Amino acid sequence: MEKREGKRRIVLVPIPAQGHVTPMMQLGKALYSKGFSITVVEGQFNRVRSSSQHFPGFQFVTIEESLAESELVRLGGIEFMINLNKTSEASFKDCIAQLLLQQGSDIACIIYDEFMYFCGAAAKKFNLPSVIFSTQSATNYVSRFVLSKINADKFSVDMEDPGMQEKMVENLYPPLRYKDLPTSGLGPLDHLFEVCREAANKRTACAVIINTVSCLESSSLSWLEQEIEIPMYHIGPLHMTASPPSRLLEEDRSCIEWLNKQKPRSVIYISLGSIFDMGTKEVSEMAWGLCDSNQPFLWVIRDASESLPEEVSTMVSERGGYIVKWAPQIEVLGHPAVGGFWSHCGWNSTLESIAEGVPMICRPFHGEQKLNAMYIESVWRIGFQVEGSKVDRGEVDRAVKRLIVDEESAGMEERALVLKKKLKASVKSGGTSYNALDELVKYLKTM
Ligand code: UDX
Repeated sequence: MEKREGKRRIVLVPIPAQGHVTPMMQLGKALYSKGFSITVVEGQFNRVRSSSQHFPGFQFVTIEESLAESELVRLGGIEFMINLNKTSEASFKDCIAQLLLQQGSDIACIIYDEFMYFCGAAAKKFNLPSVIFSTQSATNYVSRFVLSKINADKFSVDMEDPGMQEKMVENLYPPLRYKDLPTSGLGPLDHLFEVCREAANKRTACAVIINTVSCLESSSLSWLEQEIEIPMYHIGPLHMTASPPSRLLEEDRSCIEWLNKQKPRSVIYISLGSIFDMGTKEVSEMAWGLCDSNQPFLWVIRDASESLPEEVSTMVSERGGYIVKWAPQIEVLGHPAVGGFWSHCGWNSTLESIAEGVPMICRPFHGEQKLNAMYIESVWRIGFQVEGSKVDRGEVDRAVKRLIVDEESAGMEERALVLKKKLKASVKSGGTSYNALDELVKYLKTM
């Protein structure tokens, strides 16, 4: 670890999931470049440390966790998070106590992922300032407050009542129906309510950072400003305001050479992020539909040998498809050959697609991905959703043509390019995210 004498130290606590770790580490890099020392606290299976070569100068500290990685699969995301918070609190306090004993350790602040709310207790115990980092959309953050209010009102709203589902949540703009709130596919509702309540609880935090940009979510940000009453810094998209993410997985760059041979805006890029996989049946239907569309396609399948039957794999390569295990996504989306993105609508992918002006086909799996998809389709109007529990080849074919070939595609592309320009402006000197990052740095220096 490089010694940065006299520098104030920021302790970062990411949640162990790549889609959240990436923006946290980008934030770390941004703060490091502004003169702070950075300590990353992670659990045994978080593995950012094994990529520490991408973060020269950072200190990595591992805390004991009594939860094994296999528990994530067994318990599911929400319950895992609840247990992780319970088991990590004591060891995190020990960890902070050790850090404070280290010579010259001058902790300015703990910045923790909103789901790692156990950090609040250590901040309080050692009287250290803490800041909450929400790596997902501002609208999703709003939803958590709405859900925790429903919970506090002793379920005055019956979320399982189909009639209720269609109703509008009061005082929200753009309007959200109860069914748009990110609840589905996340396990038992009462556990989800617990996480929402805890994540929406500010505890002693003195500020909130959000990886978003005001031109995308100005109404949700205004709503939050009133609700949380502590400074809020919307500094995203972090892959633009800070540095491009350091990739924790090996990328197959051969796809860039393949893209170089394709016509401008002809390729559909398909990726479902770092967690989700399609079942073998859906993968086959997808492959047939993509081939039938007659558009070239670049498809990320993390384990093609397992999920793609051999004859389908042969057909894909004969009919204009290219499959990789992991792509350099930001570069792919910025490539002139790419005309559309078939996505699960994780927040990072959503921001990255908008930043490159690429319209989207939305196939969300659960929770906040559905909310992002709703914004892509109905608020920003730069894509559309493919609904239903299963898609068949005909739907895939139609969706690809609708996004890349049909007349309607021009409007989506035009709006996506307008948003791209706005995002570029917001991260340039004088732009909203640029200024917010500047203000955040000034604020952290006062601590
Ligand atoms: C998770 C949740 O699923 C998501 O809903 C939430 O918003 C963030 O945490 P994940 O599923 O990984 O994230 O999706 P996403 O947020 O889109 O992040 C995926 C990241 O992996 C992106 O930064 C993307 O650039 C990167 N990626 C994906 C690659 O670099 N290469 C690939 O081939 C695929």
